[in-house]
Amino acid sequence: MSAKAWGGRFAEKTDARVEAFTESISFDARLADVDIRGSQAHARMLAKVGLLTDDEAVLIVSALDEIRGEIGRGELPFRAELEDIHMHIESRLIERIGDVGRKLHTARSRNDQVSTDLRLYVREAIDRLDELLTNVQRAFVIRGETDAEVILPGYTHLQRAQPVMAVHYWLAYCEKFQRDRDRLADCRKRVNVSPLGCAALAGTSLPIDREETAKLLGFDTVAANSLDVSSDRDFLIETASCLALVAAHLSGWAEEWILWNTTEFGFLTLPDAFTTGSSIMPQKKNPDILELIRGKSARVMAAVPQLLILVKGLPLAYNRDLQEDKLALFAALDTLTACLELMPAIVTGATLNRDTIVARLEEGFLDATTLMEYLILRGVPMRTGHETVGKLVALAESRSCRLADLPLDDLQKACDVIDSAVYTVLGTENAVKALQSYGSGGRDAVTEQFAAWRERLTLP
Ligand code: ARG
Repeated sequence: MSAKAWGGRFAEKTDARVEAFTESISFDARLADVDIRGSQAHARMLAKVGLLTDDEAVLIVSALDEIRGEIGRGELPFRAELEDIHMHIESRLIERIGDVGRKLHTARSRNDQVSTDLRLYVREAIDRLDELLTNVQRAFVIRGETDAEVILPGYTHLQRAQPVMAVHYWLAYCEKFQRDRDRLADCRKRVNVSPLGCAALAGTSLPIDREETAKLLGFDTVAANSLDVSSDRDFLIETASCLALVAAHLSGWAEEWILWNTTEFGFLTLPDAFTTGSSIMPQKKNPDILELIRGKSARVMAAVPQLLILVKGLPLAYNRDLQEDKLALFAALDTLTACLELMPAIVTGATLNRDTIVARLEEGFLDATTLMEYLILRGVPMRTGHETVGKLVALAESRSCRLADLPLDDLQKACDVIDSAVYTVLGTENAVKALQSYGSGGRDAVTEQFAAWRERLTLP
């Protein structure tokens, strides 16, 4: 009998170059465990509907357990001629248990099988990513304890804008990663649908029970259209999109910390264990890890266009193009996982250089907006206040002093509603204290959010 599962109608042997060209075992071997679980559920269902005897199902299930062990120990040699992980497992099953093994693929095709495997794999990857993202959020909250008293300049256009509590920065990242987690959780609903039993494209004439396999595999629902689900890769593109957004968040954070770590900023010191040196300049301590997190985000994001281009223009239903989906998905998943695994140690290990920060906080008129709001509270129209403060900034700049250093006389000359209480809003400390709206970077608002995050992340 032919070595190929589909060899019956072929007279000629497949060209070895074709086998090398068409194989996917070199990248789908990691689906072995989910493939075996899918096959075991399928065998149990076949026994339930009478397409296998109970004894046959038990034999298949236990042989598959043994094959899982063999693969885990590297005892199953991978061969291009067997194409993919599905055929490797099935042919090994037949080697081990003979004719009973030849019944496993009843009412199933590799088209619904590979989709089932991928859905199980992605479902677990999403659960793992949720854990990793939670760890990153926790790291930001943990470092919030240390930095509770620190004020940082907030920037727009990378120009100093208004002061905020440092913790406001850390919680900004918690918010972003929370949206990432929520998006993944929502995407998981569309991942967790069972394609099994759709067979090649049309379903089957055999009396299968798709609800049963879905239940055994923990799927929430059963896909209702065999043509659709056997070719659907929306769930991968959606997952990749979620990953791409996480990567965008990581990359932005990495860039910010790379800047803060420069001599020019001097706000942050990265831990030695998470930086590297230069082979020629002995003094260098480079933020290569952050640069690679920023750089590797390209590989994660690239999966989205890669998958979209892959499915664009494919007619229903399965086409072999779809085999390429795993390359994009796994590259994105592996890369993002590696970045997220490294992050918490960097987040908690870095230190804010408080002296440098304090010494520089009074540069750049971070209290100008609060001064304008002080005028508004005294009845000055916003646009007028804006202009008045603009003039005072120019005046202070010409004298190389802070707004808080301007004498009351000069302030009152600019606007007569100003009295000595103005000095309680001038200066960075006062300016950050004055911020009080919900969600602001002011002390009270941040303290409130910090407590909420501790609770949400179940930190003591
Ligand atoms: N190796 C294939 C893949 O990963 C499995 C499905 C093959 N199906 C087929 N009809 N040739 O997509």
